Amino acid sequence: MTTVTLRNLRKKFDDVVAVDGIDLDVEDGEFLVIVGPSGCGKSTTLRLLAGLESATDGRIEMDGRDVTAVEPKDRNVAMVFQNYALYPHMTGRRNITFGMKSSGDFGDEEIERRVAEAADTLDIADLLDRKPEAMSGGERQRVALGRAIVRDPDAFLMDEPLSNLDAKLRIEMRAELARLHSTLGTTTVYVTHDQTEAMTLGERVVVMNDGGIMQVDEPQRLYDFPANRFVAEFIGDPAMNMIPVDVEDGRAVHDAFEIPLPLADAGDPVAADRNGVGEESLDDGRRAVLGVRPEDFRLPDPRTDDGLPRIDATVNVREPLGDSLLLHCSIGDASCNVQAAPRTDVGAGETVSVTYDPARLHLFDAETGEAFYHSEAHVSEAERPVPASVE
Ligand SMILES: Nc1ncnc2c1ncn2[C@@H]1O[C@H](COP(=O)(O)OP(=O)(O)OP(=O)(O)O)[C@@H](O)[C@H]1O
Ligand SMILES: [Mg+2]
Repeated sequence: MTTVTLRNLRKKFDDVVAVDGIDLDVEDGEFLVIVGPSGCGKSTTLRLLAGLESATDGRIEMDGRDVTAVEPKDRNVAMVFQNYALYPHMTGRRNITFGMKSSGDFGDEEIERRVAEAADTLDIADLLDRKPEAMSGGERQRVALGRAIVRDPDAFLMDEPLSNLDAKLRIEMRAELARLHSTLGTTTVYVTHDQTEAMTLGERVVVMNDGGIMQVDEPQRLYDFPANRFVAEFIGDPAMNMIPVDVEDGRAVHDAFEIPLPLADAGDPVAADRNGVGEESLDDGRRAVLGVRPEDFRLPDPRTDDGLPRIDATVNVREPLGDSLLLHCSIGDASCNVQAAPRTDVGAGETVSVTYDPARLHLFDAETGEAFYHSEAHVSEAERPVPASVE
């Protein structure tokens, strides 16, 4: 059993604050993913966990034991890197066993047993006698994983382990890592800048920016209830549309439209049960940014009336993506992406009437960027319109 706790962890390099006082609790057996843009401090955080960097301030605990000043070799964690870090002149087997042999902690029989077990788990038996130059990228990464597994560490620390692989292999190895985790159940901290990897692998996902933690949540909750503009725009592709509005009389008001903001009755268990940020924050005159994901806009079926306002959108560019049609539009002075059904017959230059899912509106404070309203918290299942089918 291994829990990892970070308290006010900080790392400063000369004049760069790479990690700016973060708090985090990794649960026993959890697969936790840290995601964020380049330079936000992901690798530094992981290297602090591994003991490869020393903290400027704060504390790291493993299973409640303070390891902040403990040497890397005494932490019993295994790190897997992007570039595999295999020794080119050694066979797969030697690469896997090298650290165990040199530590002197394991007998030959024990080493053999563990290698056989890892080879079986990772399906790499036929790579053991080959040198890295005779392996594909995916095979090298498997051997690097083998080297981590044989040590039976308390935790795996993985830094972009799949980013040197081509797209297809990355998807295969992603599934493999998920399977490996469900087999071994070892606490894992996984760093990536790829939001798809984060969403698919993470039981929980930490979004970092600028050395700080923006939000920690289950993947779907990050998507549905982003805590701020940064998370809202970072998670989701194409990104959430952001439109400046004023809040007036329970509506989001823009020059080109007015959208009513659903509100559950005070004390409604539906709102209380969900992420009920907000009702008190819908003050008249509050300046806000309305967030709507491209797939939450829709082109309504002209034959039905769902009672929702219609918004005029002028199509600037039309991008058929195969499984959907992405329309780059102008709504008043705002640029918006609208995801329509594939093969929808609209062309650039046309003005279309769009509507939206009333359960998927988000409001962020215009100054701070903090989310203060998610309409999903206020709309019960029964109140949601059935999406009109577009033919
Ligand atoms: N050894 C170092 N000396 C000085 N600055 C460093 C050092 N290592 C990292 N930094 C700086 O700290 C910040 C965080 O770097 P880090 O490598 O943790 O980012 P990252 O989130 O892993 O980015 P990427 O996605 O590009 O790998 C960056 O501004 C980087 O330039
Ligand atoms: Mg990095």
